[in-house]
Amino acid sequence: MASEITYAEVKFKDASPAAQVKVPPKTKKCEHHPQKYPAWLPWLISLLLFLVCLALAIALLAASFCPSGDQPTALQQTFMEWRCMSALPQSKGLGWKCCPRDWKLFQESCYYLSSDKLSWAESEQNCTGMGAHLVVINSKAEQNFLSKELQKYRKGENYYIGLKAQELEGWHWVDQTPFNETAAFWRIGEPSHTYGEDCVVIHRLSEAPNNWNNVGCWNRHRICEAAAVTV
Ligand SMILES: *[C@@H]1O[C@H](CO)[C@@H](O)[C@H](O)[C@H]1NC(C)=O
Ligand SMILES: *[C@@H]1O[C@H](CO)[C@@H](O)[C@H](O)[C@H]1NC(C)=O
Repeated sequence: MASEITYAEVKFKDASPAAQVKVPPKTKKCEHHPQKYPAWLPWLISLLLFLVCLALAIALLAASFCPSGDQPTALQQTFMEWRCMSALPQSKGLGWKCCPRDWKLFQESCYYLSSDKLSWAESEQNCTGMGAHLVVINSKAEQNFLSKELQKYRKGENYYIGLKAQELEGWHWVDQTPFNETAAFWRIGEPSHTYGEDCVVIHRLSEAPNNWNNVGCWNRHRICEAAAVTV
């Protein structure tokens, strides 16, 4: 019996040192974990997340004010100063229609009345150079608006529009809109069939709406048109 008890004691002694060695490191590791992270780290992470959210919010806000979202148009790149009008009664989503300063807004377009004179071809070049084109008149409302603006403007008599005779096809709009004889606003007796009178003006002093005249293509005033920018 005595030898058996001694044997058992030896076995117990062998096992206990191993257990004592294994257990303390585990408890030590657990005690060390919280001390590896400084107390301010969660605050720093929260602050960084907050700043990221703030940056995202600002970016979204800026994007919603940026006209048309995608690439800025040539018109937007040409002009620094703009005038906007509320468009809310007509359209649903977008709140403002904008034109460059000194241009006139009507429906979905902006119009520029020149004070200088150029040939018809130079006039069209000047308009396209600004991201516009010589005006294309699509409705009686547009024709009446332009006639009224020209009455106010009072500089010179003849303003080029984007209509020109082409040798075989007849009257031709610069933006390829089909020419509609019943929506044309010729002055009485026009268009005349005089040789070389291939370009069309609005004659400011003729009574609206029928104030178009075909003329020679040398230097005259012009009306440019571009799509209004909605924001
Ligand atoms: C068009 O004409 C206007 C007025 O003369 C001028 O200020 C502008 O620079 C011209 N733009 C181009 C692209 O020719
Ligand atoms: C031409 O204009 C008239 C009058 O504005 C309009 O009723 C008609 O639908 C137009 N025709 C075409 C082909 O656009």
